[in-house]
Amino acid sequence: MKRRTKRNVLIVTVALLVIAGISTWSHLRREIPQPGWITADQRSTFLYGSVGAERDAGIPYWILLALPRMFPEYMPGNGGYVSLGLSWEEGKEMPAGFSKKTIGYVRVAGNCALCHAASFRTGPDQGPEVLPAVPGRAPDVQGLLTFFQQCAQDPRFNAGEMMTEINSATKLPFIDSLLYRYVLIPRTRRKLLSQGLVMIDSTLQQHSRDPYSDVPFSTPQLRGLALWMKGMKVPPYPLEWDRTLVEAGKPLFAQQCGSCHAPDGKQKGTVIPIAEIGTDRELANARNTSGYIAGSLDGIWMRGPYLHNGSVPTVGDLLKAPAQRPATFYRGNNLLNTQSLGFVSDLPQEKGLHFVLFDTRLPGKGNSGHLYGTGLSDQDKKAILEYLKTL
Ligand code: HEC
Ligand code: HEC
Repeated sequence: MKRRTKRNVLIVTVALLVIAGISTWSHLRREIPQPGWITADQRSTFLYGSVGAERDAGIPYWILLALPRMFPEYMPGNGGYVSLGLSWEEGKEMPAGFSKKTIGYVRVAGNCALCHAASFRTGPDQGPEVLPAVPGRAPDVQGLLTFFQQCAQDPRFNAGEMMTEINSATKLPFIDSLLYRYVLIPRTRRKLLSQGLVMIDSTLQQHSRDPYSDVPFSTPQLRGLALWMKGMKVPPYPLEWDRTLVEAGKPLFAQQCGSCHAPDGKQKGTVIPIAEIGTDRELANARNTSGYIAGSLDGIWMRGPYLHNGSVPTVGDLLKAPAQRPATFYRGNNLLNTQSLGFVSDLPQEKGLHFVLFDTRLPGKGNSGHLYGTGLSDQDKKAILEYLKTL
Protein backbone atom coordinates (compact mmCIF):
# COMPACT_ATOMS: atom_id res chain seq x y z
CA MET A 1 0.00 0.00 0.00
CA LYS A 2 1.22 3.48 -0.76
CA ARG A 3 2.03 5.64 2.18
CA ARG A 4 -0.78 8.10 1.33
CA THR A 5 -3.41 5.37 1.10
CA LYS A 6 -2.23 4.04 4.43
CA ARG A 7 -2.62 7.48 5.93
CA ASN A 8 -6.12 7.92 4.50
CA VAL A 9 -7.22 4.57 5.89
CA LEU A 10 -5.92 5.63 9.25
CA ILE A 11 -7.78 8.95 9.14
CA VAL A 12 -11.05 7.32 8.13
CA THR A 13 -10.67 4.67 10.85
CA VAL A 14 -10.02 7.27 13.52
CA ALA A 15 -12.96 9.36 12.31
CA LEU A 16 -15.25 6.33 12.43
CA LEU A 17 -14.09 5.46 15.93
CA VAL A 18 -14.74 9.01 17.09
CA ILE A 19 -18.25 8.98 15.61
CA ALA A 20 -18.97 5.57 17.14
CA GLY A 21 -17.63 6.82 20.47
CA ILE A 22 -19.76 9.96 20.47
CA SER A 23 -22.85 8.08 19.46
CA THR A 24 -22.31 5.41 22.14
CA TRP A 25 -21.72 8.10 24.73
CA SER A 26 -24.84 9.93 23.68
CA HIS A 27 -26.89 6.76 23.80
CA LEU A 28 -25.55 5.53 27.10
CA ARG A 29 -24.17 8.44 29.06
CA ARG A 30 -25.34 11.88 27.94
CA GLU A 31 -27.19 13.55 30.78
CA ILE A 32 -30.26 15.74 30.14
CA PRO A 33 -31.70 17.82 33.01
CA GLN A 34 -35.20 16.92 34.21
CA PRO A 35 -38.09 19.11 32.99
CA GLY A 36 -38.70 22.45 34.71
CA TRP A 37 -41.99 21.51 36.44
CA ILE A 38 -40.07 19.04 38.58
CA THR A 39 -37.50 21.53 39.80
CA ALA A 40 -40.01 24.41 40.01
CA ASP A 41 -40.98 23.81 43.64
CA GLN A 42 -39.70 21.81 46.60
CA ARG A 43 -42.65 19.48 46.77
CA SER A 44 -42.31 18.33 43.13
CA THR A 45 -38.55 18.12 43.50
CA PHE A 46 -38.98 15.87 46.52
CA LEU A 47 -41.63 13.67 44.89
CA TYR A 48 -40.21 13.37 41.36
CA GLY A 49 -36.74 14.90 41.33
CA SER A 50 -33.54 12.96 40.87
CA VAL A 51 -31.24 12.35 43.81
CA GLY A 52 -28.68 10.82 41.48
CA ALA A 53 -29.65 7.16 41.73
CA GLU A 54 -30.41 6.77 38.00
CA ARG A 55 -26.81 6.29 36.99
CA ASP A 56 -26.12 3.23 39.13
CA ALA A 57 -29.57 1.95 39.95
CA GLY A 58 -31.90 3.20 37.20
CA ILE A 59 -34.16 0.87 35.27
CA PRO A 60 -34.67 1.64 31.56
CA TYR A 61 -37.99 3.46 31.25
CA TRP A 62 -39.68 1.17 28.73
CA ILE A 63 -38.75 -1.93 30.72
CA LEU A 64 -40.21 -0.40 33.88
CA LEU A 65 -43.47 0.29 32.03
CA ALA A 66 -43.58 -3.14 30.41
CA LEU A 67 -43.11 -5.17 33.62
CA PRO A 68 -46.55 -4.74 35.28
CA ARG A 69 -48.22 -5.46 31.93
CA MET A 70 -46.12 -8.57 31.26
CA PHE A 71 -46.13 -9.96 34.79
CA PRO A 72 -49.37 -8.91 36.55
CA GLU A 73 -49.32 -12.26 38.37
CA TYR A 74 -46.40 -11.11 40.53
CA MET A 75 -48.35 -8.05 41.70
CA PRO A 76 -50.67 -8.22 44.70
CA GLY A 77 -53.57 -6.96 42.56
CA ASN A 78 -54.71 -4.75 39.71
CA GLY A 79 -53.45 -1.23 39.58
CA GLY A 80 -49.81 -1.70 38.58
CA TYR A 81 -47.25 -0.11 40.85
CA VAL A 82 -49.97 1.31 43.13
CA SER A 83 -50.78 -2.22 44.24
CA LEU A 84 -47.24 -2.41 45.66
CA GLY A 85 -48.10 0.38 48.06
CA LEU A 86 -46.72 3.34 46.14
CA SER A 87 -48.54 6.67 46.20
CA TRP A 88 -49.72 8.02 42.87
CA GLU A 89 -51.07 11.52 42.31
CA GLU A 90 -53.82 11.84 39.73
CA GLY A 91 -52.58 13.09 36.38
CA LYS A 92 -48.92 12.29 37.03
CA GLU A 93 -47.02 9.97 34.76
CA MET A 94 -45.09 8.24 37.54
CA PRO A 95 -45.83 7.29 41.13
CA ALA A 96 -44.33 9.51 43.82
CA GLY A 97 -40.78 8.37 44.51
CA PHE A 98 -39.98 7.43 40.90
CA SER A 99 -37.68 9.92 39.22
CA LYS A 100 -37.34 9.81 35.46
CA LYS A 101 -34.15 11.10 33.94
CA THR A 102 -32.25 10.78 30.68
CA ILE A 103 -28.69 9.60 31.05
CA GLY A 104 -28.06 8.40 27.52
CA TYR A 105 -31.44 6.65 27.54
CA VAL A 106 -34.43 7.40 29.76
CA ARG A 107 -34.05 5.73 33.14
CA VAL A 108 -36.17 5.59 36.28
CA ALA A 109 -34.81 5.30 39.81
CA GLY A 110 -36.01 5.90 43.34
CA ASN A 111 -35.69 9.09 45.36
CA CYS A 112 -36.51 10.01 48.96
CA ALA A 113 -40.26 9.86 48.32
CA LEU A 114 -40.00 6.19 47.32
CA CYS A 115 -39.82 5.38 51.02
CA HIS A 116 -41.21 8.54 52.57
CA ALA A 117 -44.28 9.62 50.56
CA ALA A 118 -47.70 8.65 51.84
CA SER A 119 -51.26 9.20 50.70
CA PHE A 120 -54.78 9.27 52.07
CA ARG A 121 -58.33 9.33 50.74
CA THR A 122 -61.18 10.95 52.63
CA GLY A 123 -63.81 8.73 51.01
CA PRO A 124 -64.03 5.59 48.88
CA ASP A 125 -64.60 7.64 45.72
CA GLN A 126 -62.18 10.44 46.45
CA GLY A 127 -58.81 10.68 44.72
CA PRO A 128 -55.67 10.20 46.80
CA GLU A 129 -53.90 13.15 48.37
CA VAL A 130 -50.14 12.59 48.42
CA LEU A 131 -47.91 13.90 51.19
CA PRO A 132 -44.16 13.98 50.58
CA ALA A 133 -43.35 12.61 54.01
CA VAL A 134 -45.04 11.66 57.25
CA PRO A 135 -42.84 12.00 60.35
CA GLY A 136 -41.61 8.69 61.69
CA ARG A 137 -43.03 6.60 58.89
CA ALA A 138 -41.22 4.91 56.03
CA PRO A 139 -43.25 2.30 54.14
CA ASP A 140 -41.31 -0.78 53.14
CA VAL A 141 -40.15 -0.98 49.52
CA GLN A 142 -39.29 -4.67 49.72
CA GLY A 143 -42.48 -5.56 47.82
CA LEU A 144 -41.33 -3.53 44.84
CA LEU A 145 -37.86 -5.08 44.84
CA THR A 146 -39.30 -8.58 45.15
CA PHE A 147 -41.57 -7.89 42.19
CA PHE A 148 -38.56 -6.95 40.02
CA GLN A 149 -36.75 -10.07 41.18
CA GLN A 150 -39.66 -12.35 40.29
CA CYS A 151 -39.99 -10.77 36.84
CA ALA A 152 -36.30 -11.37 36.13
CA GLN A 153 -36.57 -15.02 37.15
CA ASP A 154 -39.38 -15.57 34.65
CA PRO A 155 -38.18 -16.95 31.29
CA ARG A 156 -40.52 -14.51 29.52
CA PHE A 157 -38.13 -11.73 30.56
CA ASN A 158 -36.26 -11.99 27.26
CA ALA A 159 -35.51 -9.56 24.46
CA GLY A 160 -38.04 -11.07 22.03
CA GLU A 161 -41.10 -11.04 24.27
CA MET A 162 -40.24 -7.78 25.96
CA MET A 163 -39.68 -5.97 22.65
CA THR A 164 -43.14 -7.16 21.53
CA GLU A 165 -44.63 -5.60 24.67
CA ILE A 166 -42.63 -2.40 24.28
CA ASN A 167 -43.55 -2.07 20.61
CA SER A 168 -47.22 -2.35 21.51
CA ALA A 169 -46.82 0.77 23.65
CA THR A 170 -44.45 2.90 21.58
CA LYS A 171 -42.47 3.14 18.39
CA LEU A 172 -38.84 3.27 19.47
CA PRO A 173 -36.34 4.86 17.07
CA PHE A 174 -34.23 2.24 15.26
CA ILE A 175 -31.04 2.76 17.29
CA ASP A 176 -32.97 2.70 20.57
CA SER A 177 -34.69 -0.53 19.71
CA LEU A 178 -31.29 -2.11 18.98
CA LEU A 179 -30.02 -0.71 22.25
CA TYR A 180 -32.98 -2.21 24.16
CA ARG A 181 -32.84 -5.57 22.40
CA TYR A 182 -29.11 -6.22 22.61
CA VAL A 183 -27.94 -4.24 25.61
CA LEU A 184 -30.57 -2.95 28.02
CA ILE A 185 -32.94 -5.91 28.32
CA PRO A 186 -30.22 -8.56 28.90
CA ARG A 187 -28.25 -6.21 31.13
CA THR A 188 -31.26 -5.26 33.26
CA ARG A 189 -32.20 -8.88 33.68
CA ARG A 190 -28.69 -9.83 34.82
CA LYS A 191 -28.69 -6.96 37.26
CA LEU A 192 -32.06 -7.86 38.76
CA LEU A 193 -31.03 -11.51 39.09
CA SER A 194 -27.74 -10.71 40.77
CA GLN A 195 -29.58 -8.40 43.18
CA GLY A 196 -27.39 -5.49 42.18
CA LEU A 197 -28.42 -1.90 42.80
CA VAL A 198 -32.04 -1.55 41.68
CA MET A 199 -33.94 1.74 42.07
CA ILE A 200 -31.99 2.52 45.24
CA ASP A 201 -28.30 3.34 44.93
CA SER A 202 -25.68 2.71 47.59
CA THR A 203 -26.28 6.06 49.31
CA LEU A 204 -30.00 5.42 49.75
CA GLN A 205 -29.33 1.84 50.73
CA GLN A 206 -26.91 2.89 53.42
CA HIS A 207 -29.43 5.42 54.75
CA SER A 208 -32.32 2.97 54.88
CA ARG A 209 -30.15 0.49 56.80
CA ASP A 210 -29.12 3.13 59.32
CA PRO A 211 -31.72 5.94 59.11
CA TYR A 212 -30.47 7.89 62.08
CA SER A 213 -26.96 8.45 60.78
CA ASP A 214 -26.22 11.60 58.78
CA VAL A 215 -23.23 10.01 57.07
CA PRO A 216 -24.87 8.98 53.76
CA PHE A 217 -26.20 12.49 53.20
CA SER A 218 -22.87 14.05 52.40
CA THR A 219 -23.87 16.35 49.53
CA PRO A 220 -25.62 19.73 50.00
CA GLN A 221 -28.52 18.48 47.85
CA LEU A 222 -29.23 15.46 50.07
CA ARG A 223 -28.70 17.43 53.26
CA GLY A 224 -31.15 20.04 51.97
CA LEU A 225 -33.78 17.37 51.24
CA ALA A 226 -33.32 15.83 54.68
CA LEU A 227 -33.71 19.21 56.34
CA TRP A 228 -36.83 20.02 54.31
CA MET A 229 -38.25 16.64 55.24
CA LYS A 230 -37.61 17.06 58.94
CA GLY A 231 -39.59 20.31 58.79
CA MET A 232 -42.58 18.52 57.23
CA LYS A 233 -45.85 18.57 59.11
CA VAL A 234 -48.95 16.51 58.49
CA PRO A 235 -51.75 18.91 57.38
CA PRO A 236 -54.80 19.44 59.63
CA TYR A 237 -57.44 16.72 59.69
CA PRO A 238 -59.28 17.14 56.36
CA LEU A 239 -62.80 16.30 57.55
CA GLU A 240 -65.06 17.80 60.18
CA TRP A 241 -64.75 17.17 63.89
CA ASP A 242 -67.21 17.46 66.76
CA ARG A 243 -66.40 20.51 68.89
CA THR A 244 -68.22 19.32 72.01
CA LEU A 245 -66.39 16.01 71.98
CA VAL A 246 -63.07 17.78 71.39
CA GLU A 247 -63.71 19.97 74.45
CA ALA A 248 -64.43 16.88 76.52
CA GLY A 249 -61.36 15.09 75.15
CA LYS A 250 -58.84 17.82 75.86
CA PRO A 251 -58.65 17.46 79.68
CA LEU A 252 -58.88 13.69 79.42
CA PHE A 253 -55.88 13.66 77.12
CA ALA A 254 -53.91 15.95 79.44
CA GLN A 255 -54.66 13.65 82.34
CA GLN A 256 -54.17 10.26 80.68
CA CYS A 257 -51.61 10.89 77.97
CA GLY A 258 -50.07 14.32 78.41
CA SER A 259 -47.31 13.23 80.76
CA CYS A 260 -45.66 11.40 77.87
CA HIS A 261 -47.21 12.98 74.77
CA ALA A 262 -47.29 16.71 75.48
CA PRO A 263 -49.57 18.33 72.87
CA ASP A 264 -46.97 20.98 72.07
CA GLY A 265 -44.44 18.29 71.20
CA LYS A 266 -42.03 19.65 73.82
CA GLN A 267 -41.39 16.26 75.32
CA LYS A 268 -40.34 14.81 71.99
CA GLY A 269 -37.75 12.20 72.64
CA THR A 270 -38.63 10.82 76.10
CA VAL A 271 -37.64 7.16 76.07
CA ILE A 272 -40.00 4.95 78.07
CA PRO A 273 -38.29 1.77 79.30
CA ILE A 274 -39.42 -1.43 77.65
CA ALA A 275 -40.51 -2.92 81.00
CA GLU A 276 -42.92 -0.02 81.45
CA ILE A 277 -44.28 0.43 77.92
CA GLY A 278 -44.54 -3.32 77.27
CA THR A 279 -44.69 -3.13 73.47
CA ASP A 280 -42.84 -5.60 71.24
CA ARG A 281 -39.21 -5.72 72.35
CA GLU A 282 -37.48 -7.09 69.24
CA LEU A 283 -36.53 -3.73 67.71
CA ALA A 284 -35.30 -2.34 71.02
CA ASN A 285 -33.10 -5.44 71.43
CA ALA A 286 -31.81 -5.13 67.87
CA ARG A 287 -31.01 -1.45 68.29
CA ASN A 288 -29.66 -2.11 71.76
CA THR A 289 -31.80 0.61 73.32
CA SER A 290 -33.65 0.43 76.60
CA GLY A 291 -37.11 1.36 75.32
CA TYR A 292 -39.22 3.34 72.87
CA ILE A 293 -39.71 7.04 72.34
CA ALA A 294 -43.00 8.68 73.26
CA GLY A 295 -43.23 11.18 70.42
CA SER A 296 -45.57 14.00 69.61
CA LEU A 297 -48.96 12.87 68.30
CA ASP A 298 -49.26 15.70 65.75
CA GLY A 299 -51.00 14.50 62.59
CA ILE A 300 -51.60 11.13 64.23
CA TRP A 301 -54.81 10.74 62.15
CA MET A 302 -52.74 9.61 59.18
CA ARG A 303 -49.74 7.99 60.81
CA GLY A 304 -51.25 4.51 61.14
CA PRO A 305 -50.68 1.68 61.59
CA TYR A 306 -49.40 2.48 65.06
CA LEU A 307 -46.51 1.72 67.40
CA HIS A 308 -42.91 1.34 66.27
CA ASN A 309 -43.72 -1.89 64.41
CA GLY A 310 -47.06 -0.76 62.93
CA SER A 311 -48.82 -3.57 64.79
CA VAL A 312 -52.02 -1.73 65.78
CA PRO A 313 -54.18 -0.56 62.86
CA THR A 314 -56.03 2.34 64.52
CA VAL A 315 -55.75 4.56 67.59
CA GLY A 316 -59.19 3.25 68.61
CA ASP A 317 -57.65 -0.23 68.71
CA LEU A 318 -54.67 1.04 70.71
CA LEU A 319 -57.15 2.21 73.36
CA LYS A 320 -58.42 -1.39 73.72
CA ALA A 321 -56.81 -4.07 75.89
CA PRO A 322 -54.23 -6.02 73.81
CA ALA A 323 -56.41 -9.15 73.67
CA GLN A 324 -59.14 -7.09 71.98
CA ARG A 325 -56.81 -5.56 69.37
CA PRO A 326 -56.99 -7.23 65.93
CA ALA A 327 -54.58 -10.20 65.74
CA THR A 328 -54.42 -9.81 61.95
CA PHE A 329 -55.37 -6.94 59.66
CA TYR A 330 -54.65 -5.50 56.24
CA ARG A 331 -52.12 -2.76 55.60
CA GLY A 332 -51.90 -0.55 52.58
CA ASN A 333 -55.40 0.87 52.16
CA ASN A 334 -55.16 4.68 52.22
CA LEU A 335 -58.84 5.23 52.99
CA LEU A 336 -59.14 7.17 56.27
CA ASN A 337 -60.85 5.51 59.21
CA THR A 338 -62.92 8.43 60.46
CA GLN A 339 -64.07 6.68 63.64
CA SER A 340 -60.84 5.32 65.03
CA LEU A 341 -58.14 7.29 63.14
CA GLY A 342 -55.60 5.65 60.88
CA PHE A 343 -56.80 3.72 57.86
CA VAL A 344 -59.42 1.16 56.95
CA SER A 345 -57.76 -2.16 57.77
CA ASP A 346 -60.40 -4.89 57.65
CA LEU A 347 -60.72 -5.20 53.86
CA PRO A 348 -58.43 -7.63 52.00
CA GLN A 349 -59.08 -5.70 48.80
CA GLU A 350 -60.89 -2.71 47.36
CA LYS A 351 -61.55 -2.08 43.66
CA GLY A 352 -59.15 -4.87 42.68
CA LEU A 353 -56.33 -3.49 44.82
CA HIS A 354 -55.13 -6.11 47.30
CA PHE A 355 -53.71 -5.22 50.69
CA VAL A 356 -51.00 -6.90 52.72
CA LEU A 357 -51.94 -9.14 55.63
CA PHE A 358 -50.20 -8.22 58.88
CA ASP A 359 -50.00 -10.97 61.48
CA THR A 360 -49.25 -9.76 65.00
CA ARG A 361 -48.43 -13.31 66.11
CA LEU A 362 -45.18 -13.32 64.12
CA PRO A 363 -41.85 -12.43 65.76
CA GLY A 364 -41.24 -8.70 66.08
CA LYS A 365 -44.86 -7.92 65.14
CA GLY A 366 -46.51 -8.23 68.53
CA ASN A 367 -49.25 -5.75 69.50
CA SER A 368 -48.95 -5.91 73.29
CA GLY A 369 -48.31 -3.12 75.78
CA HIS A 370 -49.16 0.58 75.87
CA LEU A 371 -52.12 0.03 78.18
CA TYR A 372 -52.80 3.73 78.78
CA GLY A 373 -56.43 4.68 78.45
CA THR A 374 -57.57 1.11 77.88
CA GLY A 375 -59.72 1.21 81.01
CA LEU A 376 -61.66 4.35 80.05
CA SER A 377 -65.36 4.34 79.14
CA ASP A 378 -66.31 4.20 75.45
CA GLN A 379 -67.50 7.80 75.64
CA ASP A 380 -64.18 9.02 77.09
CA LYS A 381 -62.23 7.11 74.43
CA LYS A 382 -64.40 8.71 71.74
CA ALA A 383 -63.65 12.13 73.18
CA ILE A 384 -59.89 11.49 73.20
CA LEU A 385 -60.02 10.27 69.59
CA GLU A 386 -61.91 13.39 68.55
CA TYR A 387 -59.42 15.61 70.35
CA LEU A 388 -56.49 13.83 68.64
CA LYS A 389 -57.89 14.97 65.26
CA THR A 390 -57.10 18.55 66.24
CA LEU A 391 -53.40 17.99 67.05
C1 HEC B 1 -35.16 2.71 50.80
C2 HEC B 1 -35.98 3.50 51.64
C3 HEC B 1 -35.58 4.92 51.97
C4 HEC B 1 -35.22 5.91 51.08
C5 HEC B 1 -35.10 5.82 49.58
C6 HEC B 1 -35.01 7.09 51.88
N1 HEC B 1 -35.25 6.83 53.19
FE1 HEC B 1 -35.17 8.17 54.74
N2 HEC B 1 -35.71 6.69 56.04
C7 HEC B 1 -35.96 5.38 55.71
C8 HEC B 1 -36.31 4.64 56.91
C9 HEC B 1 -36.65 3.15 56.98
C10 HEC B 1 -36.30 5.57 57.97
C11 HEC B 1 -36.65 5.30 59.43
C12 HEC B 1 -38.11 5.59 59.59
C13 HEC B 1 -38.56 5.40 60.99
O1 HEC B 1 -38.41 6.36 61.75
O2 HEC B 1 -39.10 4.35 61.28
C14 HEC B 1 -35.91 6.85 57.39
C15 HEC B 1 -35.78 8.02 58.12
C16 HEC B 1 -35.45 9.25 57.56
C17 HEC B 1 -35.35 10.48 58.30
C18 HEC B 1 -35.66 10.63 59.77
C19 HEC B 1 -34.45 10.30 60.54
C20 HEC B 1 -34.23 11.34 61.58
O3 HEC B 1 -33.09 11.78 61.68
O4 HEC B 1 -35.20 11.73 62.25
C21 HEC B 1 -34.99 11.46 57.43
C22 HEC B 1 -34.76 12.93 57.73
C23 HEC B 1 -34.85 10.83 56.14
N3 HEC B 1 -35.14 9.50 56.25
C24 HEC B 1 -34.49 11.51 54.98
C25 HEC B 1 -34.39 10.92 53.74
C26 HEC B 1 -33.99 11.63 52.55
C27 HEC B 1 -33.62 13.10 52.49
C28 HEC B 1 -33.99 10.74 51.53
C29 HEC B 1 -33.59 10.96 50.09
C30 HEC B 1 -32.29 11.50 49.84
C31 HEC B 1 -34.42 9.46 52.10
N4 HEC B 1 -34.65 9.61 53.43
C32 HEC B 1 -34.60 8.30 51.35
C33 HEC B 1 -35.91 4.83 54.45
C34 HEC B 1 -35.60 5.51 53.29
C1 HEC C 1 -45.95 6.48 80.10
C2 HEC C 1 -45.89 7.16 78.83
C3 HEC C 1 -47.08 7.12 77.91
C4 HEC C 1 -48.37 7.46 78.19
C5 HEC C 1 -49.00 7.87 79.51
C6 HEC C 1 -49.09 7.33 76.94
N1 HEC C 1 -48.24 6.94 75.94
FE1 HEC C 1 -48.68 6.73 74.01
N2 HEC C 1 -46.81 6.07 73.62
C7 HEC C 1 -45.79 5.98 74.54
C8 HEC C 1 -44.65 5.38 73.94
C9 HEC C 1 -43.31 5.09 74.58
C10 HEC C 1 -45.02 5.08 72.61
C11 HEC C 1 -44.18 4.36 71.55
C12 HEC C 1 -44.33 2.86 71.76
C13 HEC C 1 -43.84 2.00 70.62
O1 HEC C 1 -43.66 2.52 69.51
O2 HEC C 1 -43.71 0.79 70.83
C14 HEC C 1 -46.36 5.55 72.45
C15 HEC C 1 -47.08 5.48 71.26
C16 HEC C 1 -48.35 6.00 71.08
C17 HEC C 1 -49.03 6.04 69.82
C18 HEC C 1 -48.47 5.53 68.48
C19 HEC C 1 -47.65 6.60 67.82
C20 HEC C 1 -47.19 6.21 66.44
O3 HEC C 1 -46.68 7.09 65.73
O4 HEC C 1 -47.30 5.04 66.06
C21 HEC C 1 -50.25 6.60 70.05
C22 HEC C 1 -51.32 6.86 69.00
C23 HEC C 1 -50.31 6.91 71.45
N3 HEC C 1 -49.14 6.53 72.04
C24 HEC C 1 -51.42 7.46 72.06
C25 HEC C 1 -51.53 7.62 73.43
C26 HEC C 1 -52.74 8.03 74.07
C27 HEC C 1 -54.04 8.38 73.35
C28 HEC C 1 -52.46 8.04 75.40
C29 HEC C 1 -53.41 8.38 76.51
C30 HEC C 1 -54.62 7.60 76.57
C31 HEC C 1 -51.07 7.66 75.57
N4 HEC C 1 -50.55 7.39 74.35
C32 HEC C 1 -50.43 7.59 76.79
C33 HEC C 1 -45.86 6.40 75.85
C34 HEC C 1 -47.00 6.81 76.49
